[in-house]
Amino acid sequence: MIENRKEEHIRIAEQRDVTSDHNYWDDIILVHQALPETDFDRIDVRSSFLGCRLKIPMIISSMTGGTELAKRINENLARAAEKFGIGMGVGSMRAAAEKKELADTFSVINGFNLPMKIANIGAPQLIDQEKKAYSFEQIEYIFNLIGATHLVVHFNFLQEMIQPEGDRNSRGVIKALEQIAGSYPVIAKETGNGFSREAALELKDCGVKAIDVGGLGGTSFAAIEYYRAERVNDQQKMSSGKTFWNWGIPSPASIQYCQVGLPVIGSGGLRTGLDLAKAIAMGASVGGFARNLLADADRSSESVEAKISQILRDLKIAMFLTASGKLDDLHGARRIVYEPLKSWLQLYGDANGQLR
Ligand SMILES: Cc1cc2nc3c(=O)[nH]c(=O)nc-3n(C[C@H](O)[C@H](O)[C@H](O)COP(=O)(O)O)c2cc1C
Repeated sequence: MIENRKEEHIRIAEQRDVTSDHNYWDDIILVHQALPETDFDRIDVRSSFLGCRLKIPMIISSMTGGTELAKRINENLARAAEKFGIGMGVGSMRAAAEKKELADTFSVINGFNLPMKIANIGAPQLIDQEKKAYSFEQIEYIFNLIGATHLVVHFNFLQEMIQPEGDRNSRGVIKALEQIAGSYPVIAKETGNGFSREAALELKDCGVKAIDVGGLGGTSFAAIEYYRAERVNDQQKMSSGKTFWNWGIPSPASIQYCQVGLPVIGSGGLRTGLDLAKAIAMGASVGGFARNLLADADRSSESVEAKISQILRDLKIAMFLTASGKLDDLHGARRIVYEPLKSWLQLYGDANGQLR
């Protein structure tokens, strides 16, 4: 069952229209600087993030594991991540915690020298649902399985609401998160609906080390679950999937809201190196890419490498043309913000993204 669901997610994400109707990175324009006084070949994109040395401020966001297809995808992603010196997450590791024979679909990434390896569990599974919560032993097992540097706890409550087998309870998650964050370096991550400022402050109180905003603008899990419901002709779930297709907080706004004194990963709808530059300009330390690498990862590691190489090139061009010789210069680069993002940024701050 778990394996089928994971395979279905991949196939739907590759083949169907699963993105939100609007990509909010398009609402940001970085202001061109015609006199950059910068040497393109000396632009420095290295980042020290949560104690990991990344050669590009980029992470491959958590996506998969648990099936043979997922193993191949993880291997292709890891080979490319090693080559470019970037971080990588694997998908939810519940499957490995429950079935030891699936371990290698995740641990395949151990064959590569990665600067940052991120294990993954779901926040809903931190507490008892129909199934028992993760035990400490299970968390220890999956963390060690990939020699992880960090543990993502993902928040996907919209998906849980729409998917047929969803977990419906979130009471007690905060307390459980606090306990786990006391034992592991936890990154709290959304999966396409973003974190509000209230949520970010709560996460900080729980002791997480960083926030991965996973905002609205790219992959919509309401959309993915809509297609799964369609396959089994579940009209109610289909209807909810449509209704909540565009639910959430736009990624760039969530980056602003999550400025609570923790490092932020900007993610959700990143397509290009220019989008990555915008995420960093908005206050993210690094950016996370998921679905836009998936089809390449299904094809070959060369295909992923070509995509990352293009992202790197366009990040550097954006830095050059904003007179940013290093990532610090890019933070706070001048920009114009259009609607609808502009209104989102004014919720807690001014239109330039400065919090009041
Ligand atoms: C096929 C697929 C599977 C995913 N599985 C997971 C997962 O297991 N755990 C998780 O934290 N996020 C998962 N995600 C969410 C991504 O990490 C990311 O937060 C989200 O897709 C938004 O980024 P994007 O717009 O770049 O795709 C998955 C995404 C896709 C496309």
